[in-house]
Amino acid sequence: MNVVVVGAQWGDEGKGKLIDILSKDKDITVRYQGGNNAGHTVVVGNKEYVFHLLPSAILHKGKTCVIGNGVVIDPKALLTEIEELEEKGIKVSSQRLKISGRCHMVMPYHRILDGLRETKRKNKIGTTGRGIGPCYSDKVTRCGIRMIDLLNPRILEAKLKDNLREKNETFLKVYDYKSFPFKKLYEEYLDYGKKLKKYVCDTVLYLNEAIDNKKTVLFEGAQGTFLDIDFGTYPFVTSSNSIVGGVCSGTGVAPTRIDKAIACVKAYTTRVGEGPFPTEFSTNLKDDIRKKGNEFGATTGRPRRCGWFDSVLVRYSVIINGISELAIMKLDVLDDLKEIKICTGYKYKGNLYKDFPMDFEVLCNLNPVYASMPGWQSNTCDIREYKKLPKNARAYIKRLEELLKVGVKYISNGTKRDEIIVR
Ligand code: IMO
Ligand code: MG
Repeated sequence: MNVVVVGAQWGDEGKGKLIDILSKDKDITVRYQGGNNAGHTVVVGNKEYVFHLLPSAILHKGKTCVIGNGVVIDPKALLTEIEELEEKGIKVSSQRLKISGRCHMVMPYHRILDGLRETKRKNKIGTTGRGIGPCYSDKVTRCGIRMIDLLNPRILEAKLKDNLREKNETFLKVYDYKSFPFKKLYEEYLDYGKKLKKYVCDTVLYLNEAIDNKKTVLFEGAQGTFLDIDFGTYPFVTSSNSIVGGVCSGTGVAPTRIDKAIACVKAYTTRVGEGPFPTEFSTNLKDDIRKKGNEFGATTGRPRRCGWFDSVLVRYSVIINGISELAIMKLDVLDDLKEIKICTGYKYKGNLYKDFPMDFEVLCNLNPVYASMPGWQSNTCDIREYKKLPKNARAYIKRLEELLKVGVKYISNGTKRDEIIVR
């Protein structure tokens, strides 16, 4: 069975942990979009691994990981990630890692521009500063440099010269920023090409042949549905399609070959970066939950904004992604609360919204309507069976299932690999 895991909120739902668990039963795990803006944390024993570009399945011996064409790669960051893993004893061979030659490269001018644009903007997005937006912009405006170009000195030279001619002028005139020297960049990226060459192949053929031969594939979403460029809280989004639909364009695997989509949600909501967040806490709860849930960005270390579970938001994700199973993560973070709220609708100017609105003004000024549930006020961390969860915790999960119209299959109640309940 070929399965997709996506985030149903604003990212950081705990996809890394779920992927780690599910990927041990799959032959291949594939990233299909985003770049090293992602930060997926997996805790094994007393070791913590943070992944940005590599699928976390690389931790499982004998499994293959693929970086699909929809991903943008900062080759320097990728090489560092590989190196750090190898230092921890995880061997990353060309048998275990395949990279699409069609992946676009994050260049230093993308990273710099990301920062400069943010400084100039009045309405800052709060990007991760990894050059993701500018890199995808170049892909769409057809001046991007791809992985395969790093393996061909003549093509790289022509493309880079063309790019720098325009970029150096723009950087100087618009941002008063010094120019990027051709020779240094050219040599640097040729060198990355030499180091990464062994992993590069046509991943479209690799994946489709594997599926023909009954191998199983797990597609790993980065970011979340509300950071999706089309369906997210635009413009406070990332620059790729993080939803299930992104799998097809980001890997070259057809929709007819995908069997199931699982959404990963946090038992509450978090968001890092700017943008509307209807259920954000306004009380001391924001500090309590941030502390208990260790809500600090895995990529940038920024404190995450925290709030109640928003069923209007997640229901929209369920629809967009065709979700048939849910994984609720970090349930234990709510263990101490006396009262737990779930947002069931929004009110704006006397109107009740049952569906997620597109209008930015509505999103920024609405008032959430909450259903209140009693907390369970006991430690759930050591529980491994659903029926052993406190009654109020089961009632909370049941209410979410009713509101979202989909069943909960996984409940994560701790950071470690085995701290999960499978129903
Ligand atoms: P994972 O995969 C949470 C957010 C940034 C910013 C917006 C745009 O760990 O869930 P970008 O650098 O992508 O141009 O920033 O998107 N963002 C994330 N937030 N988790 C992520 O990834 C994110 N990747 C990007 O904070 O608001
Ligand atoms: Mg993350």
